[in-house]
Amino acid sequence: MRVLILGSGGREHALAWALTRSRAVTDVLCAPGSDGIALEASVVPVDLSDVDAVVELARDQRIDLVVVGPEAPLALGVADRLMQAGIAVFGPSEAAARLEASKVFAKEFMQRHGIPTAGYRIFSDFEPALAYARAAGRPLVVKADGLAAGKGVQVCAGAEQAERALDEIMRARRFGPSGARVVIEEVLPGEEASFHVLCDGVNCIPLAPAQDFKRALDGGAGENTGGMGAYSPALLVDAEVQEKVMQRIVRPLVEGMRAEGSPYRGVLYVGLMISDGEPSVVEFNVRFGDPEAQPLLFRLESDLAPLLYGTATGDLGSIDPAGIRFGPAALCVVLASEGYPRSHATGFPISGLDALASEPDVKAFHAGTRRIDGKWVTAGGRVLGITARADSLAEARERAYAAARSVHFKGVHLRSDIGQVAVLAADGAPESGPEGA
Ligand code: AMP
Ligand code: GLY
Repeated sequence: MRVLILGSGGREHALAWALTRSRAVTDVLCAPGSDGIALEASVVPVDLSDVDAVVELARDQRIDLVVVGPEAPLALGVADRLMQAGIAVFGPSEAAARLEASKVFAKEFMQRHGIPTAGYRIFSDFEPALAYARAAGRPLVVKADGLAAGKGVQVCAGAEQAERALDEIMRARRFGPSGARVVIEEVLPGEEASFHVLCDGVNCIPLAPAQDFKRALDGGAGENTGGMGAYSPALLVDAEVQEKVMQRIVRPLVEGMRAEGSPYRGVLYVGLMISDGEPSVVEFNVRFGDPEAQPLLFRLESDLAPLLYGTATGDLGSIDPAGIRFGPAALCVVLASEGYPRSHATGFPISGLDALASEPDVKAFHAGTRRIDGKWVTAGGRVLGITARADSLAEARERAYAAARSVHFKGVHLRSDIGQVAVLAADGAPESGPEGA
């Protein structure tokens, strides 16, 4: 099977790494890819916003399966166009991608199908939204309707902060047309987890739960980022919670999407808030999490390609979920540029990567690097996702941090508490506070 991956970040590097190891796969291409991904796959410089060019590439290269990494091409309808061209694609249609691309759609869908989520109101004008936030007199979450690269959500302690958020989204249009409408919702208490499930339109198979760390600084301080690290499994999602998630969230979603004429095919990422063992939905994403994909795929011992192909072709029913095997634990620490998620300089030399290449249970997934004259330099906010696997989360954590601290570049920033609370809890120590913040 010839596979084309769309994307260029750490998640796509992990997908490329896993797919090149598949017995079913002969060739892996990645567009546009990156110098890091070129370590595993052939990279092709294509602009993903040019859907025609993507379809043409897949045709020219006689691709059997296209795996879409990020949400933006899905929201542009790349999966619809590939399906029309008769090419199997892992990733939902434009209509189904609205679960991520429109928070208004997602909230109304959840309400129609009785899926647990925070109470909310929708506004398309600034003044009524502001009046509502002022009158509420309690903390609220303000969300831009459309895609905003993970930056369109603000948890606001009071009316003043909500006013600033609304002003930024609706009047200054920081996120362009994504701010034409807002969702204002209740703050959910609890702890977050990332739940990934493969759906082929009818059948679904849960993958291992993960937890990511969205804030820039230790202890959940600082700004929201794309994610500063992740680990899997997240013990918070035990068998009982998983069963609730499948019955109350995933099953009604799959059935609801099918009934509404846009069956969901691809990986569904349910952003969960779990309080006293009761899950509710914070958000849906229509793709793998980044960096959650890195530990998830590094832990996966089964062949990834048949899972993705079965998802794409409506054939998950033929796969036995009990046969999907994961190693015990993996953890990823993101090395970021100084200043991330705000502006940051790039082009600094990176040292220490060569020494990691020979370690079987450590992998440096490249998120923002370039190779110039054979030497690696920084080229993005998130630079590398140093990922390790082991027989326990504690060991995976030690291994990942030892490796992460052996890689250097000017201004390197990492969180030192990825997976810390989970390791302490697994050791039987009382939990010192919520994790994943
Ligand atoms: P989202 O982009 O919707 O995932 O939101 C980004 C982050 O904001 C989430 O990961 C949560 O940490 C936080 N968040 C969003 N909605 C809520 C909510 N209703 N209650 C508490 N935290 C939330
Ligand atoms: N790590 C969060 C996300 O991929 O949306």
